[in-house]
Amino acid sequence: MIPDETLAIDWSTAPGEILLERYHAVRRRTETLAAPLSPEDQAAQSMPDASPTKWHRGHTTWFFETFLLTPYLPGYAVYDERFGYLFNSYYEAAGPRQPRPQRGLLTRPSAQVVGAYRAHVDAAMARLLAGPLTPEIRERLELGLNHEEQHQELILMDILHLFAQSPLSPAYQPGPGPARPDPGPQRFHRFAGGLVEIGAGEAGFAFDNERPRHKTFVAPFRLADRLVTNGEWLAFIEAGGYARADLWLSEGWARVQAEGWEAPAYWRREADGAWTTMTLRGRHPVDPHAPVLHVSYYEAAAYAAWAGRRLPTEAEWEAAATASGMSAALRQLCGAAWQWTASAYSPYPGFKPGGGALGEYNGKFMVSQMVLRGGCEATPPGHSRATYRNFFYPGSRWMFGGVRLADDDRLAEVTPGNTFLDEVVAGLSATPKTLPAKYFYDAEGSRLFEAICDLPEYYLTRTETALLRRVAPEIAARIPQGAALVEFGSGASTKTRIVLDAAPQIAVYAPVDISPTALDEAAARLREAYPDLVVAPLVEDFTKAMTLPEGAQGHTPVGFFPGSTIGNFAPAEAEALLRQARLLLGEGSLFIVGADVAKDPAVLIPAYDDAQGVTAAFNRNVLVHINRELGGTFDPMAFAHKAVWNAEESRVEMHLESRRDQIVMVGDYGFRFAAGETIHTENSYKYPSEAFETIARRAGWTVAQRWISEDPTFAIYALTA
Ligand SMILES: C[S@@+](CC[C@H](N)C(=O)[O-])C[C@H]1O[C@@H](n2cnc3c(N)ncnc32)[C@H](O)[C@@H]1O
Repeated sequence: MIPDETLAIDWSTAPGEILLERYHAVRRRTETLAAPLSPEDQAAQSMPDASPTKWHRGHTTWFFETFLLTPYLPGYAVYDERFGYLFNSYYEAAGPRQPRPQRGLLTRPSAQVVGAYRAHVDAAMARLLAGPLTPEIRERLELGLNHEEQHQELILMDILHLFAQSPLSPAYQPGPGPARPDPGPQRFHRFAGGLVEIGAGEAGFAFDNERPRHKTFVAPFRLADRLVTNGEWLAFIEAGGYARADLWLSEGWARVQAEGWEAPAYWRREADGAWTTMTLRGRHPVDPHAPVLHVSYYEAAAYAAWAGRRLPTEAEWEAAATASGMSAALRQLCGAAWQWTASAYSPYPGFKPGGGALGEYNGKFMVSQMVLRGGCEATPPGHSRATYRNFFYPGSRWMFGGVRLADDDRLAEVTPGNTFLDEVVAGLSATPKTLPAKYFYDAEGSRLFEAICDLPEYYLTRTETALLRRVAPEIAARIPQGAALVEFGSGASTKTRIVLDAAPQIAVYAPVDISPTALDEAAARLREAYPDLVVAPLVEDFTKAMTLPEGAQGHTPVGFFPGSTIGNFAPAEAEALLRQARLLLGEGSLFIVGADVAKDPAVLIPAYDDAQGVTAAFNRNVLVHINRELGGTFDPMAFAHKAVWNAEESRVEMHLESRRDQIVMVGDYGFRFAAGETIHTENSYKYPSEAFETIARRAGWTVAQRWISEDPTFAIYALTA
């Protein structure tokens, strides 16, 4: 608001006239800030925490008088003996004082007399600074000026609070606020953490609470690149954020109820339903693009809980600010809002308050408050720094407090362009939410699938195996000498053995599966059981364009796709997959595909919702897989397993139904789930054989033969290219 008039100087060596210049600049700034205020404005106190402007002007002057002039300027005569009582803030060692909540009762001295007091002290300070300057004088001068800058911000905070109480909503600085462009989506930057150093070093000015500089461990974390906006806060309000006890700390919830909070301080819902807020420029509509201000720690924490994130610790904030060089990568680090951290205001390891009255500056407040970092529009330019620790009680709202979100970095293993992440994010961003079925299959998913195959309700495996045994000689008769059997989604390669036993002319077995563990284990078992067979496994997503593994090259490929895995694909996808398989296997090739057939839902549903809950565990395993590999925060048991028959689409659908309202993180992304909302995890299409054959033909295959089992029906097709 008022530009910094000063340049950096070396306080330990600068000559007296430079220090005096600096002194005058800071003192002048206080008077400039007070200038728009009438004597009446300057005298009123709106609440115990806020002080009248006149008092701030007097107190900062008393500070120089008490800690510099009285001890160090020989012959200095205090301006008025009674002012020590009026303007001492909290220094026990400096004697008794006017109770803080009653500063607004001090109609005397007048604002004009406080001005004269300031002039008296300023003149004496000029004399002091013209004389010999000890290191102690220099240090106290620098502290006094930084102290006065703190009060400059307090003047603006307190006057805003005062004006906000007035039905006239006076503007401290009339006029509209700056036009704010849409800040765009919030991005989370990753920080490695580790053993970091925080706190101010020995050089340069810092308040005692910023020292000593020390090492602290910070786990990998992520920090939002900008502050939470008013627009985002509105969404929180509209989602019932102020009415949901589950989001709030107990103390915060008590406060919400006791004080009727339903929005940040100074927000008001107007007759037309729109929100306005009180600013130093008067009352204006809430700007959705501006950072939210005047929220308490309790509100910040509740918002973070609602958003599925958390507040940064002060060590995280400082480590990130330092690592980014206070650069544009992290926007609004300083100057937009003080940012609540999750850190209690405590002494740093090794902190020792100094002796005497000035030792009371910070140390005695190190309990029950929370640290804020950054700086706001009201902070004097150059006053704050990366190590600066501001602190307030968690319920305070009158300072310019805002929110920057943070999160644990659980993405350490995920590289950019990770397909798993991309597909999960795309699926969970869709309406309705979906997840690709292939992600059931990590090691545990493959194991669970094998367990499903043994379930009494899961007729598919038994039926297909029996049918395969019966028709294996007919299949074998179609397989050329020295062929390479290429199996799509081979899993445990159990059914493979039936084909291999019936067709010893197969020279190479090339299983393709997305699950490396399942593939490795199956390959090892087959190598042992079939020592003459070349086993050439391929970890691959078979929906993507593939090339045959080297071992299979030069051999006539024969495709094998059992298990009704083809049923996991919608007709168009199944067609694309079959077409791709044709390209891979080539002209004249053979493709054996097993596919389930539509039947009574009373038989179908138990196959996907068994009594022992194995399919339920299989379904939930996709969430576990996401948690492990993508840093997801799913609570799998907060999702119920559902299997439903969709007659229109001729498919069994598996869903995971959210048992409650919840937010789940996956990587950098947060997803909201309403109670009852489902993630559609799998389709098992049950194609009538004509429908399957149509799809196969469209994909360029000829249906050479079809075998169908007795009830429960299951089909195996021999397709030729
Ligand atoms: C239903 S199981 C069938 C397993 C075996 N073929 C059977 O009949 O018992 C599906 C298998 O396909 C694999 N799979 C699923 N989607 C896949 C994909 N897109 N690419 C590669 N493998 C996939 C799974 O890992 C699993 O082993």
